[in-house]
Amino acid sequence: MFIPENLINEHFDDRYFDVVNALDEARQIYFKNNNIFERIVEARELEMPFIIGELGFGAGRIVVSLMEFIEESGLKDVDIEYYSVELYPLSSERICSILDGFKSRVGREIKALVKEYEKIDRKVPGWHSMKIGQPFGSLKLKLWIGEALEMVSALEKPCDVWFLDGHGPKKNPSMWRPELLMAIGEKTKTGGSCSTFTVAVAVQKALKEAGFSVEKLPGCGGKKENLYALKK
Ligand SMILES: C[S@@+](CC[C@H](N)C(=O)[O-])C[C@H]1O[C@@H](n2cnc3c(N)ncnc32)[C@H](O)[C@@H]1O
Repeated sequence: MFIPENLINEHFDDRYFDVVNALDEARQIYFKNNNIFERIVEARELEMPFIIGELGFGAGRIVVSLMEFIEESGLKDVDIEYYSVELYPLSSERICSILDGFKSRVGREIKALVKEYEKIDRKVPGWHSMKIGQPFGSLKLKLWIGEALEMVSALEKPCDVWFLDGHGPKKNPSMWRPELLMAIGEKTKTGGSCSTFTVAVAVQKALKEAGFSVEKLPGCGGKKENLYALKK
């Protein structure tokens, strides 16, 4: 398969995401497998924000796909807090160029994200807040520029759900180290969950040790199975 050069993260020699069906892949692995539609409805009924954590912001493809997913659901008055982290933040130009192939489907969402992202100073470590107004409600994005464990430790509240998207464990073992996944367990609500594209045995083991029960759920595209983990 031809892989456009700008899709490769030069720090890890790995792709930011699958080239062809990355928006649908995000839906299956991160939104459907975590049942987030029903859980957003529940949070809204309790007048609570729905809190999402993500390891690996990259080009923001999951955020863009999430905006599309919630908009399509027809839900209104949704309040999402989205915490993400990036050690090597991309320029807004590179993000636009990486997401360019999705413009005809999610052009409005890409524009909304980039408009806020280009206001932050990527050279400054720590939290950067972006408020992305959406027809369905509000998406408060807080991006930590720096290392993943620092971000998880800096989180003041536990998340309802985590999207673990930190390159493959072979290419980037640091994003799957037991210490980091233990911290994810500590920053997940009881009954909360996480999911990821990898089914690596070491990841399953570390998630179990972090207090999750782990199961394999249907994958998307080239991947038959993905991991889903429920915090007990
Ligand atoms: C697979 S990409 C994420 C793709 C992204 N979720 C998207 O949909 O566009 C993984 C990201 O994690 C970042 N990363 C890798 N190791 C990291 C670490 N230890 N701390 C913070 N970010 C890290 C990489 O630079 C890369 O942007």
